[in-house]
Amino acid sequence: MKLFMFRIIILYAFINLISLPSAGSFRFKTENDKVLDTTSFVSPFEADNNRCFKCHGQEKYEYSNATLGRQVKAQMCSERIIHKSEFYRSNHRNFNCTDCHSGEYIKFPHSGELRMEQKYNCIDCHGGDEKFAKYHFEEIEAEYQKSTHFKMEGDGFSCWKCHNPHTYKISVRNNNNLKETIAYDNAICLNCHSDFSRFQLLSDKKEINIIQKHEWLPNQTSHFANVRCIECHTQINNNVPVSHQIKPKEEAVKLCNECHSKNSILMASLYKFESKKQRRDGFFNGIILNASYVIGANRNEYLNLISLVIFVLVIGVIIIHIILRIRKKANNY
Ligand code: HEC
Ligand code: HEC
Ligand code: HEC
Ligand code: HEC
Ligand code: HEC
Ligand code: HEC
Ligand code: HEC
Repeated sequence: MKLFMFRIIILYAFINLISLPSAGSFRFKTENDKVLDTTSFVSPFEADNNRCFKCHGQEKYEYSNATLGRQVKAQMCSERIIHKSEFYRSNHRNFNCTDCHSGEYIKFPHSGELRMEQKYNCIDCHGGDEKFAKYHFEEIEAEYQKSTHFKMEGDGFSCWKCHNPHTYKISVRNNNNLKETIAYDNAICLNCHSDFSRFQLLSDKKEINIIQKHEWLPNQTSHFANVRCIECHTQINNNVPVSHQIKPKEEAVKLCNECHSKNSILMASLYKFESKKQRRDGFFNGIILNASYVIGANRNEYLNLISLVIFVLVIGVIIIHIILRIRKKANNY
């Protein structure tokens, strides 16, 4: 048990080392990186938002306690801290806090009823909008509804559990940031699947046994750094940029040659951004090789042919040899 916890910590620390979505230093190239330049970005709602950041922007906040008749300092719990720089780097940085939250939040103490506040869903804003058609929000929504997490919707699971409302920033997958993409995407899952404090909000299980459950996978650390959880856990769908249908665990990919073969499933998922041509030629052709060398997936047609020819030649020589020996023997009598 101790060893297991230790490994979980090591794994998590390792993944955090590569990237942590909430780490200030973490940088991700996005399509609109020119636009998403934090240094010169000025929110249209800077002043409005500062009313909230004043308390939610760091660990400490102050308020005037009417009963005591003085200023009181208190500590903001980490779950409710929103880092300004990250918010202004996220996709939804052009928003006012009160676009998504009730304007009543300006008052403090916040009214208890606000806890029941109904939150918008992605689809409420993005559904049926031409501007976002390329993301196929409707199809992602449909996939999510078939996913294994959806049954926890009643307990509070939603798109927001994986796409943090205040930090989410879309990433563009290419060869230069492949490792970062993998780490970023896996951190989304490990946020719960290696953090019991979050996990227990949704599950009655007494422990997270993710390392044990993947014991069958050799070089686990290496695999987790080179493939995403979703490669093995989602249904491949070519219509959406990222498959969202997380299948029940029994249907997860377990066969090595699903990846370690010429028709690697990775071509339809992790390496989807590669051109169709390269996909047809398999791993051998293309820059993918530089990013990752997947044993078995790099098979080359010509090498295959050559080995076949050598094989046939060897068999041929053996057969001729046998015939000659039989003849020789026959001649000797
Ligand atoms: C004076 C400090 C202060 C200010 C200003 C403030 N908040 Fe809060 N907020 C808190 C504290 C403390 C909590 C946690 C306790 C609670 O829920 O009341 C909280 C909780 C929240 C929650 C979580 C409620 C829940 O369901 O748990 C939301 C959402 C929120 N604030 C939004 C806002 C927004 C939006 C603004 C700006 C319009 C804002 N707050 C301004 C101190 C503040
Ligand atoms: C795009 C919509 C959106 C914007 C903009 C937004 N929030 Fe939120 N916020 C949400 C949603 C949705 C949740 C609930 C997340 C969940 O259920 O996991 C939330 C939760 C919170 C919480 C509770 C803690 C938590 O993370 O669950 C606080 C505090 C909060 N928001 C404050 C703010 C402040 C301050 C701003 C402005 C700087 C802001 N929000 C801007 C959508 C938004
Ligand atoms: C309150 C409405 C609202 C909600 C809720 C909302 N979005 Fe958005 N989202 C927008 C708007 C508006 C933009 C464009 C912002 C801009 O151009 O600055 C945007 C931008 C984006 C972008 C960047 C698109 C691009 O091409 O630059 C992505 C990706 C995105 N949202 C994903 C999501 C996801 C995922 C969710 C749910 C977890 C979500 N959004 C929830 C309104 C919303
Ligand atoms: C179990 C976790 C999870 C849930 C739940 C989830 N997503 Fe995602 N989503 C991901 C991951 C992982 C990615 C890939 C992240 C990346 O590379 O930007 C992603 C990417 C996306 C993208 C961007 C696609 C792109 O081109 O990068 C959109 C849009 C999106 N999700 C919408 C949604 C919507 C809408 C919902 C709810 C119906 C949802 N997601 C629920 C994990 C989740
Ligand atoms: C190489 C494929 C592969 C990868 C990569 C992978 N998994 Fe799995 N995972 C499986 C298989 C197969 C099972 C079922 C194991 C069993 O039941 O014996 C499983 C089981 C699980 C379970 C169920 C555990 C339980 O309680 O029974 C969870 C949760 C899970 N994986 C999450 C993840 C997360 C999070 C990641 C990324 C860090 C990940 N997986 C990466 C193949 C994979
Ligand atoms: C908000 C927390 C959270 C996030 C984020 C999350 N999960 Fe889960 N996941 C859970 C919980 C809770 C369960 C249910 C565990 C249980 O009680 O069996 C679960 C169950 C699973 C299962 C097992 C399904 C089964 O058949 O029992 C798999 C596989 C899984 N998650 C994969 C993923 C992957 C892959 C990601 C990232 C794309 C992810 N999860 C992100 C909380 C989360
Ligand atoms: C989801 C796809 C996937 C599955 C399933 C998978 N692998 Fe891998 N494996 C990879 C990738 C990608 C790499 C590349 C690692 C690298 O770049 O070093 C890899 C690397 C390896 C390595 C080299 C490790 C190293 O440290 O360099 C071995 C050995 C290996 N896999 C064995 C297996 C075995 C055995 C199985 C089945 C039990 C398996 N793999 C299942 C994708 C997969």
